[in-house]
Amino acid sequence: MNATITLLPGDGIGPEVVAEARNVLDAVAERYGHSFTYNEQLAGGIAIDETGDPLPEETLGACLAADAVLLGAVGGPKWSDPTASVRPEQGLLKLRKSLGVYANLRPIQVFPALAEASPLRPELVANVDIMVVRELTGGIYFGTPQGRSVVDGRREGFDTMRYNEEEVRRVLKIGFELARQRRSTLTSVDKANVLASSRLWREVAHEVQHEYPDVAYEDVLVDAMAMHLINRPADFDVIVTGNLFGDILSDEASMITGSLGMLPSASLGDAGAVGLYEPIHGSAPDIAGKGIANPLATILSTAMLLRNSLGLVEEAAAVETAVAHTLQSGCRTADIARGGPSIGTQEMGERVVMALSGNR
Ligand code: IPM
Ligand code: MG
Repeated sequence: MNATITLLPGDGIGPEVVAEARNVLDAVAERYGHSFTYNEQLAGGIAIDETGDPLPEETLGACLAADAVLLGAVGGPKWSDPTASVRPEQGLLKLRKSLGVYANLRPIQVFPALAEASPLRPELVANVDIMVVRELTGGIYFGTPQGRSVVDGRREGFDTMRYNEEEVRRVLKIGFELARQRRSTLTSVDKANVLASSRLWREVAHEVQHEYPDVAYEDVLVDAMAMHLINRPADFDVIVTGNLFGDILSDEASMITGSLGMLPSASLGDAGAVGLYEPIHGSAPDIAGKGIANPLATILSTAMLLRNSLGLVEEAAAVETAVAHTLQSGCRTADIARGGPSIGTQEMGERVVMALSGNR
């Protein structure tokens, strides 16, 4: 197959991890006889520096024209002045919105070789297999009005949490469809005891649930969910929630696996939408440029890309198996080494490529 993949390395460790992911994609292409064409574009802080815009027209055009988009990370201290009017993160939000990728899938799985890396007791972590489905193009991230004003001589900032029924329905449907392919259990997370937008969310979730009577369903309040994720993470299958709650809960859930550096994500929309794939970690400015970042989250994101955007199921599984083998053979980047010996970003990438090519 021929496919065009737009690469957005972005800021911080983004370029380092995307370079390794690209090598893995090349190895997949070679082993399975595909041809991938890469179109590398500016996004985030580096795009602000070079063009003044965190998502230049050319970048957006290249994303919309691609078969899939792979992003590293955006943001960093250089651009984090809270009074700045242009910020790297605005580019990422605009990209998600422009691609129409309203469902962000964040699988939380524990690699057996890393069970010891979790801060939770091994018996709590064994059998954890969660799919967080985070609504990505609505809610308080996008609701208007949003802004600043001065009221009674005091500065004020405000955001609006807003959902319409269609936004809720479509992301719930994706969650229920996924649940059917998994363990047929779905947890919808909201704050319906306080927020009007959450009460609508819950009402619509129940309507959608009637179309999936075979899936076990439960509503959980977000504060309680934060607790359950630590106390009994293995009980959950698919978790569907809004944009802000999903942002927070997915970082929390990631720690069950021991490292944020291991977790990939896929952002999907309706049929025909271009999928966006990115590690869930950020730009990690503290370790950028040192060659020590863990590239596995980005490499695992390419597996999601191969499966979801290109339909290359066998290739996707091969990448995941190669990562598992690499970990099994003892390779660790610093974040998952627990103080033991570690290898750098590039060597980790090379090990995965070797495992994939079968000459390890
Ligand atoms: C994430 C990140 C982003 C978000 C930031 C960088 C805008 O935290 O993908 O989880 O909040 O969505
Ligand atoms: Mg986040």
